[in-house]
Amino acid sequence: MSQSTANHTVTVSGWAAHDSSGKLTPYTFKRRENGVKDVTIKILYCGICHTDLHYAKNEWGITMYPVVPGHEIVGVITKVGSDVKGFKEGDRVGVGCLAASCLECQHCKTHQENYCESLQFVYNGIFWDGSITYGGYSQILVADYRYVVHIPERLAMDAAAPLLCAGITVFSPLKEHDLVESGGKKIGVVGLGGLGHIAVKFGKAFGHHVTVISSSPSKEAEAKERLGADDFILSSDPQQLQAAKRSLDFILDTVSAEHPLFPLLELLKVKGTLFLVGAPDKPLQLPAFPLIFGKRSVKGGIIGGIKETQEMLNVCAKYNITSDIELITPNQINHAMDRLANSDVRYRFVIDIASTSNN
Ligand SMILES: NC(=O)c1ccc[n+]([C@@H]2O[C@H](COP(=O)([O-])OP(=O)(O)OC[C@H]3O[C@@H](n4cnc5c(N)ncnc54)[C@H](OP(=O)(O)O)[C@@H]3O)[C@@H](O)[C@H]2O)c1
Ligand SMILES: [Zn+2]
Ligand SMILES: [Zn+2]
Repeated sequence: MSQSTANHTVTVSGWAAHDSSGKLTPYTFKRRENGVKDVTIKILYCGICHTDLHYAKNEWGITMYPVVPGHEIVGVITKVGSDVKGFKEGDRVGVGCLAASCLECQHCKTHQENYCESLQFVYNGIFWDGSITYGGYSQILVADYRYVVHIPERLAMDAAAPLLCAGITVFSPLKEHDLVESGGKKIGVVGLGGLGHIAVKFGKAFGHHVTVISSSPSKEAEAKERLGADDFILSSDPQQLQAAKRSLDFILDTVSAEHPLFPLLELLKVKGTLFLVGAPDKPLQLPAFPLIFGKRSVKGGIIGGIKETQEMLNVCAKYNITSDIELITPNQINHAMDRLANSDVRYRFVIDIASTSNN
């Protein structure tokens, strides 16, 4: 792998967590100079994904501190390298989870860089030049253009930011199961948070019957009235679960914490699929009986490829889908993280990076 820009000379203000308390504080660091294949982006907004919380608190045990989280990044291009194709200064762009991949393996060659073995993330990753990557809770990003997408004009930048991770993470499984723009199936969405609420929007836009399975009774009215869900099942209510047995074709599980799979599998029709995108720190128990009696499948996936991310954004523009957001200033990040930990966000916090005077 080659790295065309070794110089880390660009001073950037951001926000980092320094230990497993997860508390974020202002942090100044260096990024590489804009290389020939790089674009420099003035970051306008960055969503707060639950993954950021997992990393800030080292819940997965892999955090390299200090960590500057943030992989739902939107902004405007301020500099373009000489070998960059398809982007120019002033373009409205987004960057998600990916910073680098090998570009040569079968996954990279078929637009599934997200499954490359050498994949490096936009934060807590190791870039081609050996440097640790820092994410979007910061004012400037330097990104290889092959991991950058265009934000369609129709989409508001702040509400589009969460699409870069939450959006693609739920779009990709729907696409793989022929559920994009082909309605008529019964799908379930477990966990009505950042990922879950966008999944509901996709499901409804594509003409499916959507059931939300949630641990929060307070979310029922909003799920139905605001997001258009058809049904709501309270996951702690055995009667509601029993009544919906064998009713769903496909379930997308976005839950961030340990939870039982048995009742979810029982909700699936014979040959139905439970697709996990949530990433609890502890292993989930996989019971054999609902699998063998229902010929059901359990699988998982991580985000989507770059081409698919652009496709997802274009579909969002077509159906006018963005995230429901709570816009915050950088000094509210820690409070937002606390609320996110308590499933108390409607439905994505987005940091107004440009609102800070901390330039
Ligand atoms: N696979 C990928 O590529 C990918 C990409 C992005 C994120 N993720 C992971 O996906 C998960 C969700 O991310 P997010 O940003 O959508 O998080 P989020 O906004 O916090 O939503 C997660 C939802 O899960 C439910 N939940 C939380 N704790 C629960 C518990 N103990 N039992 C049952 N339900 C619980 C809550 O919904 P209710 O209140 O409705 O129950 C909560 O709103 C995280 O683990 C994140 O790391 C994976
Ligand atoms: Zn994410
Ligand atoms: Zn590769």
